[in-house]
Amino acid sequence: MSAAERLRPFAPAMGIVLGSGLGAVAERIETEATIPFAELPGFPRPAVEGHGHRVRLGRLGGLKVACLEGRAHYYETGSTAAMAAPIRALREAGAQILFLTNAAGSLRPEIGPGQLLLVTDHINLLPGNPLVGPNDERIGPRFPSLRDAYDPALRALLRDGARRLGIPLAEGVYAAYPGPSFETPAEIRMIRGFGADAVGMSTVPETILARHCGLRVAAVSVIANLAEGLGPTGPSHAETLAATRRAAKDLARLVEDFCKSLAAQ
Ligand code: HPA
Repeated sequence: MSAAERLRPFAPAMGIVLGSGLGAVAERIETEATIPFAELPGFPRPAVEGHGHRVRLGRLGGLKVACLEGRAHYYETGSTAAMAAPIRALREAGAQILFLTNAAGSLRPEIGPGQLLLVTDHINLLPGNPLVGPNDERIGPRFPSLRDAYDPALRALLRDGARRLGIPLAEGVYAAYPGPSFETPAEIRMIRGFGADAVGMSTVPETILARHCGLRVAAVSVIANLAEGLGPTGPSHAETLAATRRAAKDLARLVEDFCKSLAAQ
């Protein structure tokens, strides 16, 4: 059975991809079923500490969701296309929206650890694009547009929700850096010069894949640290996880409220 066939009976309206330390979002889902990635053809086997390996199916704020607890990063696989199968399976199973979350470093000193940042656009610094290779026109076009890749109407819903809930929500451009080493101070100066506000090691390939197959995308970064060279100490994986876990509660409230708004539409 294909991954889409396994997911389709649950009729997810939205897929969610959870970044490291963001399990608090999954905890709010009224869970009908969980399926290990290992049972879903094409799904990755993430190896980084803090990542689960399963899809949680159920309702969040009344909306049917499929939550991917764990993802594949470029630095694990050497491929930017490692998330192609899960994202296309969500689409085939009927989802219309993909909500991407990640932990990121901030390039703006005023947006500190623990803050949420709504992604408005991205810069792809990964050495590749997940759509390289023959194109299957049944999935999407050869040359998909990435204008308004982060859906303006979904951004407006998130902005309104954050205001109502009293959760500060910064906005900015997310740059994807290959990793797994963190950036050098010189690279951070370069990325700032390019116009990025946050930097991380995920999300961009997923957005490209999702837009290609017609999913609407929303993405929120949890600021885990100030980027290298901006703070007194550099980023570390342990600090990243700790700051992310603290902010995950805000993110969980925001995502649940977002689902409620969508379910009411
Ligand atoms: N750089 C890249 N990825 C990250 C960072 C960072 O500073 N923090 C969390 N993920």
